[in-house]
Amino acid sequence: MPTAADERDLTPLELLGKRVFEDASLSRPAGVSCASCHDSNTAFQGNNGSSVPALARGSTPTSLGKRNTPSIMYASFAPPFGFIDDTDEETGKIEKIPAGGQFFDGRARDLLAQIEGPMFDPQEMNAPSKRFVVDAVRDGAYADLVRQVYGAKVFDDADAAFEKLAQAIVAFEATPRFHPFASKFDDYLRGKTQLTALEKKGFELFKDPKKGNCLACHAGKEDSRNPQDWLFTDFTYDALGGPKNRAIPSAATPGAPPDLGLCARAGLAEAAPPDFKVDSVCGAFKVPTLRNIAVTGPYLHNGVFDKLRDVVAFYATRDTDPGRWYPKGARGKPLKFDDLPATAHENVNVDEAPYDRKLGEKPRLSDKDIDAIVAFLETLTDRPKP
Ligand code: HEC
Ligand code: HEC
Repeated sequence: MPTAADERDLTPLELLGKRVFEDASLSRPAGVSCASCHDSNTAFQGNNGSSVPALARGSTPTSLGKRNTPSIMYASFAPPFGFIDDTDEETGKIEKIPAGGQFFDGRARDLLAQIEGPMFDPQEMNAPSKRFVVDAVRDGAYADLVRQVYGAKVFDDADAAFEKLAQAIVAFEATPRFHPFASKFDDYLRGKTQLTALEKKGFELFKDPKKGNCLACHAGKEDSRNPQDWLFTDFTYDALGGPKNRAIPSAATPGAPPDLGLCARAGLAEAAPPDFKVDSVCGAFKVPTLRNIAVTGPYLHNGVFDKLRDVVAFYATRDTDPGRWYPKGARGKPLKFDDLPATAHENVNVDEAPYDRKLGEKPRLSDKDIDAIVAFLETLTDRPKP
């Protein structure tokens, strides 16, 4: 298999990772690869042509995944799942909070552990076994590259060979094409370009703890001009209480099990410190990076928002004007946080800006402020190299 011009920057191991990432013969039936859902043309995210735009289509004709596909750009910067120290701003007390890992609920410790997820998930690639995957690679077009990288006997032991192919994917996911730091904002940090007045206003609102307060979770180091200090996530978990996505057939079915996010993660209680309450993170999902956000809709773990502006407007008016976002219940009262069971409502963040407003109060962000934040977010899109 010849090496394309845009692959010459890759080491043999990384190139092998790319081949496996793009290999649609590893699914059953064949036709779906990692790249089907993580499309390099849309910041390594996508839904594989699904009829329900919020959920990716897998390899079997009717299969739909459970969540919206995130961009996997900058995912290699997530630390392994674990509990980290967090200082409570008011009391100064240090608490252990969950952070890191892969997937919206951090159920894979790291990128290597993540790979078995989609490969064997019946809703995604549906591969029946490691042997199946390894045999498909052995009989495929780049078997010689596998031998070149890992030695002539690599295919003898299926489990060991699968692990090696997974390591190659991880090496590929760690290459600069997944983190080029090539946005307008990066050039602004480097002092190579200016933001427009609107973008700059948006950036200020984004950082302001009394306005957007976005930086509290979509973190960046305020005094740093190093793009790597601006990943726009601290990889922690939070419950936003986003609306139910009624376009998802299973979610619209009465009595359908809710997506509880982090608290349903297998092994959470075992990984947690003794005083940690697992129930306190029902409804919490990992804070995603906002890099490339303008090109990675739909948004949130359930893909409920098509437009980026709606996400920002939701932050601003979730509590001041909930009728705009949630269906009406008894006596016309909006059913806030309708995607979560009542027991999880108390976990939804209601004390920090921008969500510390009440019904009928003036939102933290005006319509013009929202436009400015959106303009700023649009500067976070990586541009192709000239
Ligand atoms: C059918 C579509 C589909 C396929 C195929 C697929 N993914 Fe994903 N990917 C998703 C979805 C959906 C999620 C989010 C799932 C969740 O959080 O529960 C995801 C999450 C991820 C994440 C975690 C990102 C983060 O920030 O948490 C990584 C990394 C990833 N996929 C890599 C891969 C690799 C590598 C492959 C191939 C082995 C692959 N995916 C195949 C749809 C897909
Ligand atoms: C308390 C933490 C927190 C704050 C503050 C916060 N976010 Fe988020 N943000 C999250 C979490 C968690 C998610 C993922 C929620 C989900 O998928 O259900 C998210 C998701 C998003 C998304 C969708 C990302 C995607 O890929 O789908 C956008 C856009 C976004 N936030 C922008 C903002 C902006 C703009 C602000 C400030 C006005 C802000 N956020 C403030 C935690 C936060």
